[in-house]
Amino acid sequence: MTMRIVEDPGSMSGLSARWRKQGERIGLVPTMGALHAGHASLIRRSRAENDRTVVSVFVNPTQFGPKEDFSAYPRPFSADTLCCRREGADALFHPSPEAMYPAGSASFVEVTGLSETLCGAVRPGHFRGVATVVLKLLNIVGPHRAYFGEKDFQQLVVIKRMARDLDLPVRITGCPTLREPDGLAMSSRNAYLPPAERAMAPAIHAALAWGAALSRQPLTPRTLLGRIRERLRAIPGASVDYVALVDPETLQPADALRPGLRLLTAVRLGRARLIDNVITS
Ligand code: PAJ
Repeated sequence: MTMRIVEDPGSMSGLSARWRKQGERIGLVPTMGALHAGHASLIRRSRAENDRTVVSVFVNPTQFGPKEDFSAYPRPFSADTLCCRREGADALFHPSPEAMYPAGSASFVEVTGLSETLCGAVRPGHFRGVATVVLKLLNIVGPHRAYFGEKDFQQLVVIKRMARDLDLPVRITGCPTLREPDGLAMSSRNAYLPPAERAMAPAIHAALAWGAALSRQPLTPRTLLGRIRERLRAIPGASVDYVALVDPETLQPADALRPGLRLLTAVRLGRARLIDNVITS
């Protein structure tokens, strides 16, 4: 089967409409490209659960702040095409910014309450951009299911809530985080890490995993978070944006330790800002 590369949103809608008419179930994997094994795991999950899989590759300008890395974000399109082909995607949707946001675009989706905390506190407008582009991709492709990584846990929660609140006819599926052998969560932005920072980066996941194990002790969330913060601060060159323990649906701070909470952090290491999270057990 040959994979189609589609740039025009209208053509993408037409292709999915034909598939739906034949009774085929469609899975969508939204990405910004620079695909790695984490993305590939989402594509495989979609292939296992659907008849057709669409991967979108679009570096979405509306989710980047004015001082963020929109221009520098990697765009290795031929390697991405190969990855999608290898994983057996049926279509790669690769629209231009002008096709996604024609002059005069003025509508945005805001998921209040979930978007202003954690990463949203340091990246104002980020989740508004994410929710808006994801709704547009869902409207264009019309999938039965869409796949997102737990690596970006807050994003997953925001999108699930948007789908529920706006009655979107799609099932949002969260997928586990893929890691390098040393524990570092795979990310397109890991390419920014110079060797010294790359060597330190696995200590972030190690601190979270240690914290998750410690959460079985009779501690308050405050004490636990203090201990984890201390460990993160001890990483040479690291500055901690936040470390938090929250309810997995409301993202509100937990008032007592229990299994099933999310322990999340964002750490700056040199030029890179790395995020990671684990579940408490
Ligand atoms: P991007 O960072 O390219 O990620 C695309 C999808 O891959 C997201 O759902 C993300 O959570 C998932 N992912 C990234 N690293 C992963 C890993 N190590 N293991 C498992 N899944 C991983 O997230 C975005 O793009 C954008 O915000 C997007 C949703 C496409 C909207 O523009």
